[in-house]
Amino acid sequence: MNNIYTPSAENIARAAEIIKNGGLVSFPTDTVYGLGANVYNAAAVANIFKAKERPLFDPLISHIANIDFLSEYACTDERAITLAKHFWPGPLTFVLRRKDNNPAIDLACAGLNSIAVRMPNHPVALELIRQSGVPIVAPSANRFKTVSPTTAQHVQDSLGNKVDMILDGGACTIGVETTIIDLTGKHIVILRAGVMAKEELEAIKRKKIYLSHDNPELPKAPGQLLKHYAPRMPLRINVADHDVREDEFFIGFGKVRGARLNLSPSGNLCEAAANLFAYLREAEKHDEYKGIAMSPIPENGLGLAINDRIRRASYKE
Ligand code: TXA
Ligand code: MG
Repeated sequence: MNNIYTPSAENIARAAEIIKNGGLVSFPTDTVYGLGANVYNAAAVANIFKAKERPLFDPLISHIANIDFLSEYACTDERAITLAKHFWPGPLTFVLRRKDNNPAIDLACAGLNSIAVRMPNHPVALELIRQSGVPIVAPSANRFKTVSPTTAQHVQDSLGNKVDMILDGGACTIGVETTIIDLTGKHIVILRAGVMAKEELEAIKRKKIYLSHDNPELPKAPGQLLKHYAPRMPLRINVADHDVREDEFFIGFGKVRGARLNLSPSGNLCEAAANLFAYLREAEKHDEYKGIAMSPIPENGLGLAINDRIRRASYKE
């Protein structure tokens, strides 16, 4: 089925309805085509990972249409505001601290306390975001390990049957992904190189900007990555319901007994993915328990992503 639509006012309005109601819309940006969903709808966000067949939950970039909204959405400082005023809309993404721990955006942030935000320089993207009335999270609209799409046809070829609508804005002018800079620490650090060069950013900030591998604040040992997301309490995974200890908060999956929370009583992996981070946060609030136990999750589809995350979260040095 061909899902490509011209970006007429009518089609953009339809696409915005789809986003609001939890569907997936692929849209053009200045860099590459994105696969978009409502950031506040965890089931829709889980569907992005399912469609892309990503084996892990990588945090997603929130696309916004208004510079002033940045400070409402994330913790900003003088550096973020100056850079946004200079380079937005454009191919530059900021990683900032999350403003609050709104669990509705946990899956989009992969459980991290930081959030990536950008304002794309494309009229179709901006109009879609405005009409949706919510930030739109969007990874590049390609399957895992394939190249990023720069035309609507590329999206149709790789994800055509997984998206509700593809808005055709022509070929992307830039064609490589945004430069991502981390503003959560003392130094500005480039996490992903893109069209926006280090020198251009330095010219505005008049300060040295680090590449992620030469940042003095970042740990260099790759083992650190295993600790990517960790709840405050120890987490045991693959625990059958009859093996849960009395002092453990039990997070179940499927038909199990005694679960305090169940990721998906019917065994639906998409529902489980949508609940995962919020439930881990909920569990760690209960300090009457000494640890968290979690049911086994099947190793297929989104289960791969869920298992990747909980394996990291249960990792002990
Ligand atoms: O040009 C682009 O940036 C495109 C268009 C569609 O906007 N988007 C894109 O998204 O390339 P994606 O998901 O393919 O890449 C986003 C990258 C990932 O490598 C992710 O790890 C990183 O951004 N990222 C997102 N949130 C982060 C965070 N809180 N901390 C560190 N890295 C983050
Ligand atoms: Mg990508």
